[in-house]
Amino acid sequence: MKTKITELFGIEHPIIQGGMHHVGFAELAAAVSNAGGLGTITGLTQGTPEKLANEIARCQEMTDKPFAVNLTFLPSLTPPDYPGLVQVIIDAGVPIVETAGRNPAEYLPVLKEAGIKVIHKCTSVRHSLKAQSIGCDAVSVDGFECGGHPGEDDIPNFILLPRAADELEIPFVASGGMADARSLVAAMALGAEGINMGTRFIATQDAPVHQNVKDAIVNASELDTRLIMRSLTNTERVLNNDAVERLMEKEKALGDKLRFEDIVDEVAGVYPKIMHEGTMEVGAWSCGMVAGLVSDIPTVKDLIDSIMTEADSIINQRLSNF
Ligand SMILES: Cc1cc2nc3c(=O)[nH]c(=O)nc-3n(C[C@H](O)[C@H](O)[C@H](O)COP(=O)(O)O)c2cc1C
Repeated sequence: MKTKITELFGIEHPIIQGGMHHVGFAELAAAVSNAGGLGTITGLTQGTPEKLANEIARCQEMTDKPFAVNLTFLPSLTPPDYPGLVQVIIDAGVPIVETAGRNPAEYLPVLKEAGIKVIHKCTSVRHSLKAQSIGCDAVSVDGFECGGHPGEDDIPNFILLPRAADELEIPFVASGGMADARSLVAAMALGAEGINMGTRFIATQDAPVHQNVKDAIVNASELDTRLIMRSLTNTERVLNNDAVERLMEKEKALGDKLRFEDIVDEVAGVYPKIMHEGTMEVGAWSCGMVAGLVSDIPTVKDLIDSIMTEADSIINQRLSNF
């Protein structure tokens, strides 16, 4: 399938694996890229420029296809060494960067000068237009359904994607709630040039996370995610568990008085314990409503191949028969 996104990134299929904290390691990124999609290493999981350089080198050993690095710009008291991380990406010849969080304008000139394509993840049309105006090559439009941070507007993809299509000139992919061929075809019908998936890619054999994480996604229904941290204007969609219930009790009790320190036990530093040790109840971790559509743990290659084959039959049989 040829779309503006496959052309822009030099990939075979219009399927991107979004950056995921403590999931987006070289193994997953290389598996997605080798299967013809665009895999992504999560920069902040590595933390330092040296470690990121090492992870990029590992990925380059596992694939000769293009892959991306995600740079998430978060408000932080002790910010990561963003200039150092950007320099490592440039030096290693990584062709694509997925930015997320704050406006990446500060780093766009140096990335563009190095010939790097930038796709910015946005949860609203106004942020997508901003990304376009500062020179991003594409955007990932992340609907209310998404795992992780859906923003504060709560607009689902059935509205957000056609709104983006009406306004944007640069190509965009649909992110949030994407799982299979039906998602891909629907996203394309709504104006997207491809899809970005997070949760679906965790439940694959290639994702380097504990089996308990994959099983939790397979066992979850679309009713099992919760939104947390709304009163901190840092809303996150997570899978419900004991820690999330505890956290939500505190939110209920403290209301607008809630401070980050009140919930630090449930959210800070929990990812390594969950993703690598499989201690699932220790804290809150991002997960999309799309878990309700995930019922198996295929290889990344089988997942991507089946999406493309079934998309072809939806387009050429089901839709063309109407
Ligand atoms: C466990 C997990 C961790 C994530 N970490 C990040 C991250 O560090 N940076 C980022 O930009 N997006 C992150 N995301 C968001 C994904 O890249 C993607 O946009 C989102 O999962 C899409 O929604 P879906 O889960 O419905 O496919 C994360 C998502 C999950 C599920």
